[in-house]
Amino acid sequence: MKETATLWWDDALAGIRYIDQTQLPAKYTIVRCTSVDRLITAIKRLEIRGAPALGVAGGYGVALAANVCTEVSSGVFTRKVLQEAGRIRESRPTAVNLSWGVDRVLAQMLTATDVASAQKAALDEAKGIAAEDTRCCHAIGDYGAALLPDPCTVLTHCNAGALACSTWGTALGVARSAVVAGKHVKVIACETRPLLQGARLTAWELARDGIDVTVITDSTAAHIMRTGKIDAVIVGADRITGDAVFNKIGTYMHAVCARHHHIPFYVAAPLSTFDATRTEREVTIEERGREELAVMGNRTLIPDGVPVKNYAFDATPMGLVSAIITERGVARPPLDIGTLLSRTTSYNEP
Ligand code: MRU
Repeated sequence: MKETATLWWDDALAGIRYIDQTQLPAKYTIVRCTSVDRLITAIKRLEIRGAPALGVAGGYGVALAANVCTEVSSGVFTRKVLQEAGRIRESRPTAVNLSWGVDRVLAQMLTATDVASAQKAALDEAKGIAAEDTRCCHAIGDYGAALLPDPCTVLTHCNAGALACSTWGTALGVARSAVVAGKHVKVIACETRPLLQGARLTAWELARDGIDVTVITDSTAAHIMRTGKIDAVIVGADRITGDAVFNKIGTYMHAVCARHHHIPFYVAAPLSTFDATRTEREVTIEERGREELAVMGNRTLIPDGVPVKNYAFDATPMGLVSAIITERGVARPPLDIGTLLSRTTSYNEP
């Protein structure tokens, strides 16, 4: 199966290259990014999106800020990079991976004693985050694949695939690993209004890999769960607190339907998505612009003057989650996130 990176550091460019996800599936465009301003625009416009990919982008963003900073005094250099890191961290609020990636690279950079070694430390750490994300996704895929019956049909929401990570994917990584293990997997991709990450991105990357995928409208999900056509729901996550899973708007609706129809509801996410410091009520859910709902191509879909609510994410209470599949194994609620993060062995071991 083809493993293409979503974003990576280009040494010759001294910058980041990434697949512009707003253009898919019509166009496959690789963008060259050599400024922090451009990276922030890319994150806000969802050219780069998906929680683990945002973690990688956050890390590379700090490396870029360090790389383009021309200050020779260590003190001024550090102050400037910290400022840029703050701007990157705030470019999207819900996925905790973004600030996690930024902070992890900053921590390494701050151990250096001069500007050149700080720049190197930042870039090494950022590259390390990208490589680690791929390893995590494969581990998540293998643990998750073992949970699926053969044959099976899984329903997913949004895009928690290779495009949302460095490669492979979390929820789609489970489907990919199951296929690699010889299982017969069909994926039902919810289109995911309003930006259609399911229809555009999940369908694109699974079809490219020859994995059986069918797109449905979001509102078809309850119907096909009720008619017995779904064996499991698998989604990714943008932040996991002890009491809730934050993911693309609509995820909660699928979790309620899955519980009603006795279908397991799995969340596949690396530990970088866990937030031990907050509860559901303390997390900011991003709200996005009216135009995402009101305009489609040249058509106006909502009368002028009528307001909209465009939440990008929702919170699924932990009680509706059957299991969380991480790179260290399968954790079943109730969860003590502090303990999960401190474990170094597989959760599957007694
Ligand atoms: O707004 P997006 O496209 O960044 O939202 C992405 C999602 O909600 C994904 O499901 C989530 O980040 C998990 S990605 C492995």
